[in-house]
Amino acid sequence: MTRTVYVNGEYLPETEAKVSIFDRGFLFADAVYEVTSVLDGKLIDFEGHAVRLKRSLDELEMAEPCTKDELLDIHRKLVELNGIEEGLVYLQVSRGSDGDRDFVFPSADTMPSLVLFTQNKPGLADSPAAKMGAKIISIEDIRWGRRDIKTVQLLYPSMGKMMAKKAGCDDAWLIEDGYVTEGTSNNAYYVKDGKIVTRPLSTDILHGITRKAVLRMAAEAQMEVEERLFTIDEAKEADEAFTTSASAFVMPVVEIDGVTLGDGTPGPIAKRLREIYLDESRKAAI
Ligand code: PDD
Repeated sequence: MTRTVYVNGEYLPETEAKVSIFDRGFLFADAVYEVTSVLDGKLIDFEGHAVRLKRSLDELEMAEPCTKDELLDIHRKLVELNGIEEGLVYLQVSRGSDGDRDFVFPSADTMPSLVLFTQNKPGLADSPAAKMGAKIISIEDIRWGRRDIKTVQLLYPSMGKMMAKKAGCDDAWLIEDGYVTEGTSNNAYYVKDGKIVTRPLSTDILHGITRKAVLRMAAEAQMEVEERLFTIDEAKEADEAFTTSASAFVMPVVEIDGVTLGDGTPGPIAKRLREIYLDESRKAAI
C-alpha cells in the first residue's frame, strides 16, 4: 500500500514526496529525529518526544519547523490517513538547504525541512520477539560525544546491528571506557537481586522517553532502581536484563556475548515492566 507522508506542509503519496539533494540532512547528517509509537491508533508519550525534539533543535541552533500543536496535528492526521492501529511515526527535521554544499550553516532564515511518515506494525505490543527475549553482543562505542542529541548520524548503530546479526544475535550494547553506554537504538538495564541498574543521564547516552516512563513506573511499583555506570561483566552475571525504546517498549534480554542470563527466558521484572508500561501508556495515549 502506498503511504501518505508529510513533507514541508504537504501530505503526499510516498512516491511523490521529495527533498532537495542539497538538504543538509542528506549531505551532512545535519538533522534530528523522533520516533513515536502508536497503540490503538493513539500516540504514546507525544509530549515527551516533542520536548526532546525542541531540546535537540536548540542544542544544534536549528529553527523549529512549526509549533508543538501543529506537530501533534500532523502526527494524528498521518496516523488517520494511513489507518495505523499499531506502529510508529517517524519525524525528521533537517537544517534544510540554501541550494549548495557548504560546511558553514546556511543563514538562520533558511527553512528547515520537516518530514514525517508512518510505519505500520501490527502486533507491535504483542511481539513474539519480546516473548523470546533478545540476544545481544557487546561492541566498542565509537559514536560522537553528543549522544543526548537525537541526530540521524546512525551509521555506527546500524553497523552494530549488522555485527549482531552476523553473530546470530539481535542487537548490540555499546561499551566506552569499560562501561556500557546503551544499546544501538535503546537504553540498557540489568537486574540483580531485584535491583534495576542503568547508566545515569549525561551527554553519553540518549535520554530515552521510554526510559523516563519506565523508571517512574518501576519506582511506583516499589522496585529498586540504581542509576550508575556498569560493566558488561556485571550484566553477564545478572539475573535478567532488558532494553527500552519507543519502538520495542521494554524488551527482555536473555543472552549477552553468548552468556545465558537466568534460565534463558525473559525475566520477571522485565516482563512486569513491559506489562505496566503498555498498560499505562495505552491509558495515557492521545
Ligand atoms: N531509538 N538510545 C538510542 C541510541 C536510541 O536510538 C533510542 C531510540 C533510545 C531510546 O529512546 P526512546 O525511549 O525515546 O525511544 C536510546 C529510536 C526508537 C530509533 O532510532 O528508532
